[in-house]
Amino acid sequence: MARPKIALIGAGQIGGTLAHLAAVKELGDVVLFDIAEGAPQGKALDIAESGPSGKFDGSFKGTNDYADIAGADVCIVTAGVPRKPGMSRDDLLGINLKVMKAVGEGIKEHAPDAFVICITNPLDAMVWALREFSGLPHNKVCGMAGVLDSARFRHFLAEEFKVSMRDVTAFVLGGHGDTMVPLTRYSTVAGIPLPDLVDMGWTTQDKLDAIVQRTRDGGAEIVGLLKTGSAFYAPATSAIEMAESFLKDQKRVLPCAAHVDGAYGLDGFYVGVPTVIGAGGVERVVEIKMNKDEQAMFDKSVDAVKGLVSACKEIDPSLA
Ligand code: APR
Repeated sequence: MARPKIALIGAGQIGGTLAHLAAVKELGDVVLFDIAEGAPQGKALDIAESGPSGKFDGSFKGTNDYADIAGADVCIVTAGVPRKPGMSRDDLLGINLKVMKAVGEGIKEHAPDAFVICITNPLDAMVWALREFSGLPHNKVCGMAGVLDSARFRHFLAEEFKVSMRDVTAFVLGGHGDTMVPLTRYSTVAGIPLPDLVDMGWTTQDKLDAIVQRTRDGGAEIVGLLKTGSAFYAPATSAIEMAESFLKDQKRVLPCAAHVDGAYGLDGFYVGVPTVIGAGGVERVVEIKMNKDEQAMFDKSVDAVKGLVSACKEIDPSLA
């Protein structure tokens, strides 16, 4: 059977890391697309040359021509600009919306059957716009945010509890921004919910609150340290986890920015929710019960995303 084809739209920091991870995990043949000339070709060649020592096979091509993504099974989109210190993800809206238009049209023409994972920020609005521009089915277009936000939460919790990150599960809902909703009640160490761990004396409520806030600010913490761009290792790893679940029909339960129509009282809207990702793309949106406080946080987050979507419609009236 032919190897799956993975098209990476954007060959910057995240795009290059995605290509390397896809190569090492032998997920398929990789095409790196970018408008910058030389960068995708150079990264593709560099990764191909690491194959003999890395002990993987595959074909790696860099390109500036959308025709080369033809027939891709998966497209992961990182095209656009990342933020600099002091910027919020929302500050990127105007520039990255134009990029989503070009990318959406490229995917529509050359890879209309792909499963599309958007990473470009501000994520929830950009994945919505990308879906609109591409016209692909809603279940085949989603955004990577929840896996990353949950991974950050899990890392901080594992450090606090001095346990393996693998035994910490965590749940983050809502938009990928300052209003994201880390849900402590649904986050566990080997099945023990965080509130119980506070009762057991593993941590204090104050420390837990600080970890929740650090999770919300997780992207900005990295931007502040790097100074020249934003996080790329963890975002790329998170998107690869989603792509692998699709390619291998793993049916992983992963939080992602999905089109929610009916669940959570939403009427056709992209926001971070738990989903099942398999060969059918986003096969299911998992609706959980929230208490009053959680619902209020979720509603606030949805409102923030709605504001960004309205801003997109104002900038590009074809989206209205
Ligand atoms: N088409 C294709 N590629 C484009 C386009 C376009 N219209 N416009 C810009 N690019 C490319 C740039 O040339 C660059 O190589 O997108 C790449 C972005 O790479 P980086 O600047 O290194 O950014 P990165 O860290 O990879 O983040 C990309 O993901 O997490 C988000 O906020 C982040 O929106 C940003 C995106």
